[in-house]
Formats: sequence, C-alpha cells, structure tokens
Amino acid sequence: MRVLGIETSCDETGIAIYDTENGLLANQLYSQVKLHADYGGVVPELASRDHVRKTLPLIKEALKEANLSAADIDGVAYTAGPGLVGALLVGATIGRSLAFAWNVPAIPVHHMEGHLLAPMLEDNPPEFPFVALLVSGGHTQLISVTGIGEYTLLGESIDDAAGEAFDKTAKLLGLDYPGGPLLSKMAQQGVAGRFTFPRPMTDRPGLDFSFSGLKTFAANTIRGNENDAQTHADIARAFEDAVVDTLAIKCKRALEQTGFKRLVMAGGVSANRTLRSKLAEVMEKRGGEVFYARPEFCTDNGAMIAYAGMVRLKTSANTDLSISVRPRWPLDELAPV
Ligand code: KG4
Ligand code: ZN
Repeated sequence: MRVLGIETSCDETGIAIYDTENGLLANQLYSQVKLHADYGGVVPELASRDHVRKTLPLIKEALKEANLSAADIDGVAYTAGPGLVGALLVGATIGRSLAFAWNVPAIPVHHMEGHLLAPMLEDNPPEFPFVALLVSGGHTQLISVTGIGEYTLLGESIDDAAGEAFDKTAKLLGLDYPGGPLLSKMAQQGVAGRFTFPRPMTDRPGLDFSFSGLKTFAANTIRGNENDAQTHADIARAFEDAVVDTLAIKCKRALEQTGFKRLVMAGGVSANRTLRSKLAEVMEKRGGEVFYARPEFCTDNGAMIAYAGMVRLKTSANTDLSISVRPRWPLDELAPV
C-alpha cells in the first residue's frame, strides 16, 4: 500500500510517498523561506501562489524518485488543517483532484497529528502510551497519547507558541525570519548566567504555557544593555535556556500526572539541540525514554503527512468530492483508529 502525502499548510511545499512494506520511498521539500524573508514573516497570499507553482512539479519529482507511476499510488493524503486557509486549499484541491482522477481514496490529514506521528518514521518508534510535547510555530501543547487518535490535551500555550517566541525574539536580535534556528546557533556563543529570564507559569500548578512575556523581557534586556555581538549571544542563550527549562518542567509534571514513561517531542522546535539534550537528560534521570524525529522531519514536511495518511487510510478517507479545509482544528476532535 502506497500513500502520496501533500503538505502545504504554511511556507513549505512537502511531498512524499510512504509504502507500508518498504517505508519512505520519496521525500521532496521546497521551502519558501527566501520568498517571505523580506517581509519578516509568512505572507499568506504569496505562500498560496507559490504552492500552486510547486506542488505538481514536486509530485512528479517524487514519483520519479520512487520510480513509480500514478497507477502505483493507493491513496492521496493532504494536510486539511490547521494552517493558512489559502495554502491549505491548494494542497487539498490538488490532492482531492488527483485522488479522483486516479480513482483512489483521498485522506484529509491533521497537520499536528502528522507532527505527532513523525517520530514513528524512525528506526526506534515509540510505543503507546506516551506524553507528546508538540512545539511548532503555531502550537505548544502537551498531550496524553494512548493510541492513534486517542489524544487528551493536558496543557497548551495561552498566548505565543514556543516557535513564535523564538522567531519574535530572533527578530529583536536582528536575525532573519524564521529566526528560531538562527537564535539557537547564536546562543551557542552565549555565556550562561549573564542574564536570567523568567520561567513563565512554573511557580503555580498546571500544564499551560505563556511565552509572550519572554519576548518583552528580551526587548527590555536588549534596550538596557550594550549592543555588541557578545551581549546579543548572551541574551539568546538566556532566552533559549528559559524556554527549554520551562518546557522541561512542564514535561516532568505531565509525566508525573499521567504516570507514563515515554516522552515524544515533535514540531519545528523539537529540532532544537538544547531542548533535545535537556529532555534526554530528564528522561534518563526518570528511567524513561525520549523520542524525536530527525531534524528534517521535525519541521514541516510531506513524509509525516504521507505516514499519517497511511495510518488513517481506513478511517478518514473522504467519500464525497468536497474539498474542505479547517484553518482551526483542535487535535482532540480526531477519532481513534
Ligand atoms: O513545525 P514547523 O516547521 O511549522 C509549524 O507548523 O509551525 O515549526 C516552525 C517553527 C518556527 O517557529 C521555527 O523558528 C522553529 O519551528 N524552529 C526552531 C528550530 N528549528 C525550527 N526553533 C528553535 N530551534 C530550532 N533549532
Ligand atoms: Zn508544522
């Protein structure tokens, strides 16, 4: 069984083919980062138009990479939400149309379920149950996962997502969009302890997050200090340490609350090296295990959509010809498989 996956929810066009027997057969990615850099963030209309330009050529490329033809595809999965409505509609329209033309099921996929399942593409996939930390540009969530589609939200950000906080703070430090990875690189040159940022909402019970105050704290620290490269690196370090510590404290709480021994981290920010080593340390101390995908499967990609589509082929395939997307779509509305 082979599923074609199409990801167009934001600023990456990702196309992949997943085979139930042989795993990933093709993985193509086109990033629009350069297109949006001048604007300091994603411009939705430009994103949609670029997906129109790139999706079909990348599908052809993926078929070529896998040495397959259209007749070898048994299902077409596409990201149906959450995300930018215009960008989603491009992938959904192309995905639904190809499925109709090829006479195979079309499978609408939840973008965050794609992220959540991405670590299953690796050699040592996590078993259920586990706590999932989803950290992307739009979401920061802790979820109890007892099976595919069995998701209970434990906590989430009440304002900025972790990735958003990284990007906004990076911008204050003069870094290009998306600044998260660049800030992290800068932090490597920083001296720990010169500045100390707060760990928001860790002094009270609960599993929710708030990251918008950190960006304000960064702005004030930048204003109150010299403007040299070392100071910027020290601020980046203090910011990253605060985010990582805060996420780690809440992960520990979620593990205590659920009694689970496994932690899965997913989404763009799970590519962050400091976060990975911190959570590995946390889990080692607890006698548990942490799971994450390789960095290119942490950020947006087609492989996770092809994989989630394969998992959902039987339960979620849409039988009518409607093309609908959900820019907002709570993960816990998904049905168990
Ligand atoms: O999952 P993703 O690719 O897209 C969304 O679904 O939002 O996540 C993108 C986010 C951006 O905010 C980006 O700056 C952040 O993930 N990110 C990182 C790193 N790599 C990506 N943040 C911190 N450190 C990184 N290494
Ligand atoms: Zn994403």
